[in-house]
Amino acid sequence: MSVVSRRAALRTLAAGGVAAAWPMAALAAPLARPIPSTGEMIPAIGLGSWITFNVGDDPPARAACAEVMRAFFAGGGRMIDSSPMYGSSQSVIGEGLARIGRAGDVFATDKVWVSGAGRGPAQIERSRELWGVDRFDLMQVHNLLSWEGHLATLFEMKAAGRLRHVGITTSEGRRHDEIERVMRSHPIDFVQITYNVLDREVERRILPLAQERGIAVIVNRPFREGALLREIGARALPAFAAEIGAASWAQFVLKFILAHPAVTCAIPATTRVDHVRENLAAAAGPLPSAALRRRMADHVQAL
Ligand SMILES: NC(=O)c1ccc[n+]([C@@H]2O[C@H](COP(=O)([O-])OP(=O)(O)OC[C@H]3O[C@@H](n4cnc5c(N)ncnc54)[C@H](OP(=O)(O)O)[C@@H]3O)[C@@H](O)[C@H]2O)c1
Repeated sequence: MSVVSRRAALRTLAAGGVAAAWPMAALAAPLARPIPSTGEMIPAIGLGSWITFNVGDDPPARAACAEVMRAFFAGGGRMIDSSPMYGSSQSVIGEGLARIGRAGDVFATDKVWVSGAGRGPAQIERSRELWGVDRFDLMQVHNLLSWEGHLATLFEMKAAGRLRHVGITTSEGRRHDEIERVMRSHPIDFVQITYNVLDREVERRILPLAQERGIAVIVNRPFREGALLREIGARALPAFAAEIGAASWAQFVLKFILAHPAVTCAIPATTRVDHVRENLAAAAGPLPSAALRRRMADHVQAL
């Protein structure tokens, strides 16, 4: 955050104008991690958009999404993730970025999701128009659909300077063998997978391989679409959560994820300004050691 905007934020706080729950998130320097292939730093908390930003044409709902984005950028966030699969989300993001004047700050992350590589370029161009950005910072092949052909398109676009990074995605442990094969055989910059305190399959092979090959890792479904927090949210946080500054279950889970050395960023989705601040704040304090991470996983497993 620049000195000027930090001062402006302090003035707003002094005037009591910021929703109270997580006010310091706007002022703390967020954790950033390098993208291994380029060294560029990226904030470790991004923003998902599946379901949460698929609000159709409803003007108040679209305005509320813009406020979530405003709080996200104010707290130091940059990566927003979307897909043509997510209904109106791409247009909601584009409208929000224009409304809050942040199209130049976003790390625009989208996906190609269409059967048949020949249809990829038109879909990517339509997505770019909806976002209102000059080019995407990252384009991923969604769930490996027609991945051979789409990857060829994406590498060509990157070589021509029309795209900055190339990636692939999956979720919930699906097709990990194939993900691994692509990671070994193609010079991708990013891989996006599911990882959280209960879904830990990627710890066996995908995360170590990402470290070995210098591939950035985006973690999707950190809260299992909210179900994880609903399940454990009624229980008291363990006393040791205080050791890492986790003041909520959401922060507990995000700190567990971010402390894995292979993880570049997590992309929790939310409809709420207080939640986006809470999630960003998870990256501002201490992170658990390897030993404490084992204890965290064991604790949640036993709940
Ligand atoms: N194959 C793929 O490429 C793939 C697959 C799945 C997901 N993704 C990406 O990953 C993103 C995240 O995954 P996800 O959408 O499954 O959901 P998620 O981030 O695991 O969970 C989102 C849910 O958690 C709740 N939440 C967020 N922050 C919270 C907080 N601090 N306290 C309490 N509740 C909180 C939200 O409710 P509120 O609105 O009330 O905050 C929302 O219902 C997606 O949006 C998408 O961008 C990619």
